[in-house]
Amino acid sequence: MAALIIDAAAMNDSPASLLIDPFRLQALLGDACGRFDVDSLAECESTNTLLLSRADQGAPAGSVIVTDRQTAGRGSRGRSWLASPESSLTFSVLWRFDGGLERLSGLSLAVGIAAVHALEASGAVGVKLKWPNDILYGNAKLGGILVELQGASESALAVIGIGLNLRLPEHPVTGAAFAMPPSALDQIVAPLPERHALFAQLLIELARVFDRFSDGGFASLRQQWQARHAWQDRPVRLLRDGRVEKEGLCRGADSDGALLVQTEAGVERCLSGDLSLRIL
Ligand code: BTN
Repeated sequence: MAALIIDAAAMNDSPASLLIDPFRLQALLGDACGRFDVDSLAECESTNTLLLSRADQGAPAGSVIVTDRQTAGRGSRGRSWLASPESSLTFSVLWRFDGGLERLSGLSLAVGIAAVHALEASGAVGVKLKWPNDILYGNAKLGGILVELQGASESALAVIGIGLNLRLPEHPVTGAAFAMPPSALDQIVAPLPERHALFAQLLIELARVFDRFSDGGFASLRQQWQARHAWQDRPVRLLRDGRVEKEGLCRGADSDGALLVQTEAGVERCLSGDLSLRIL
């Protein structure tokens, strides 16, 4: 069975802490419990940053860090990611995949499918995905995914970070980093799922999706992603460095996870950029 590490001192020192208890989590993981080593921390800079450095030191696949609080949480494209223990679930998972980095295209989309499955299993209806790494409810952001890759030709590792809004913060933060309004799980499921049960469900679904992705890549999951794609066939605008790069109808993702936008020139593949809905 996988080791479970707990920051016991931090638990004793902070009675109001919402720390995940790895022993309680273990009981909820079922068949997946041997696949994860869960380290539960009161605080760290960023679960992705910490797990990347543990990966450099040889941490195995299945290493997980979950934290109450990040002091320097990171979002996509260099943005920061703010979260508080009461209002969020914040964690990262290390996974290793055979083959080189090129086999990992579409991984962040695949992770989105796992997140939606876990939320649906926890009672949430209407959760959708936005390319490439947003979890949406309506047109508001319920969570985000940050996948960071390192690799050689024969194997690659991924650190997969997920931040999920459980409640809207009392004092919402606004600004350029928040291109979309936030939403929270307590707007969708009442009462909120118990924290350990929700986290266990997320890990269970991630293990399933990783297995499927290892066998067949994103192509084997694409249909599931398309079915949960928030903006299928809607008019969109793709920005790069603040400049409009493409406008057209969003046709979802191709089998490599690239965004498909139908412009006057035909269906074009886009590999990066900020996607927004175009109000007609
Ligand atoms: C985004 O939508 O911009 C991605 C947000 C990803 C946030 C998560 S929280 C856990 C993990 N650690 C980080 O520093 N970032 C990711």
